[in-house]
Amino acid sequence: MNYPWPDDFARIPEDPWVDAPVENLARKYDTVEAHGWYSNLDPTLDEMAALVDPGVLVIDYSGGTGILIDRFLARDDVPEGLGLVLVDASPKFLRVAYEKLSKDPRIAFRWIRYLRDKKRLERLDEVLSEGVLARGADLITSTNAIHLYYGLDETLRSWHRTLRAGGTVLVQSGNIRGANAPPDTWIIDETVGRIQTLAKTLVELDDRYRAFRPALGNPSRMAQYDDLRSKYFLPVRPLDFYLQHLTQAGFLIDSVAHRVIEAKVADWFEFLSAYHEGVLGWAGGTEKIDGAEPDEATVALRLQLIQESLERLFDQRPTFRACWTYLTCTKP
Ligand SMILES: C[S@@+](CC[C@H](N)C(=O)[O-])C[C@H]1O[C@@H](n2cnc3c(N)ncnc32)[C@H](O)[C@@H]1O
Repeated sequence: MNYPWPDDFARIPEDPWVDAPVENLARKYDTVEAHGWYSNLDPTLDEMAALVDPGVLVIDYSGGTGILIDRFLARDDVPEGLGLVLVDASPKFLRVAYEKLSKDPRIAFRWIRYLRDKKRLERLDEVLSEGVLARGADLITSTNAIHLYYGLDETLRSWHRTLRAGGTVLVQSGNIRGANAPPDTWIIDETVGRIQTLAKTLVELDDRYRAFRPALGNPSRMAQYDDLRSKYFLPVRPLDFYLQHLTQAGFLIDSVAHRVIEAKVADWFEFLSAYHEGVLGWAGGTEKIDGAEPDEATVALRLQLIQESLERLFDQRPTFRACWTYLTCTKP
């Protein structure tokens, strides 16, 4: 079988993360694979299947723990001889993906490092080989990630340099505010802001949470926690922001679509519980701000507060409707 790997491109790089132990938070992220709301990948998978021909080279940018690639290759309409490069900024997520997928000769891995001297992440075309760039990628995908890119402009320009003329970009995210979003739908990360308000009321009124009350009386400390939260859950930006940046980077926008994704509140709680210090760090404190990790009992109480706030937010209903946005673009 032939794969589209040029001679100068090693499928598995000689990086330290390859031999590092698998880390718990990354493994925990990978469990979203079992969550119903991860059906958000289905429209992207269908579009990918319609686009790929034998021998094409796909880049899954921000591929994380490899859920998209894993699901794609499990389909029965995938042609032979593909190459898929999983690129990510997190060596911990790459390590989980490596554990799951490295034996498959169709899959390669690349880590984009943070360059301290330049104060930026490496760009996509800096982590691929000359052979790959000369050939050009046929398709770039980015799922559940574009809302996290602080260097959006440069990231999109590096995609443009990497894609062949006529190639496609598929982007999707549940954290884009679209003017035509279906009614009564949530932007997923906006639930986190609403949890704050409900949790503060619970802490003020319910004695089970009285240990968390002193934090509420310290506005400068609370502001530090707002800051910390916005590092985990970035402020939601409007659709036009992304369309403008994609256009400026040289892409044509072929289509914009919204889909309603039904999410179980219990699954969303499980996801948020992995990031509990970002969600409600002020309830019990964090090492980053208070100099010490909260003990196990305090973390358990914080998780209970997150769960109870979520239940109130959704009026005890078991599910909620979230809005996902799908963008298809081409390089002319
Ligand atoms: C929510 S996960 C999504 C992973 C995967 N695409 C999926 O749908 O399951 C977001 C991913 O974006 C990566 N990421 C965050 N900031 C990034 C950046 N500035 N550039 C590239 N990747 C980034 C993270 O390391 C993480 O793997």
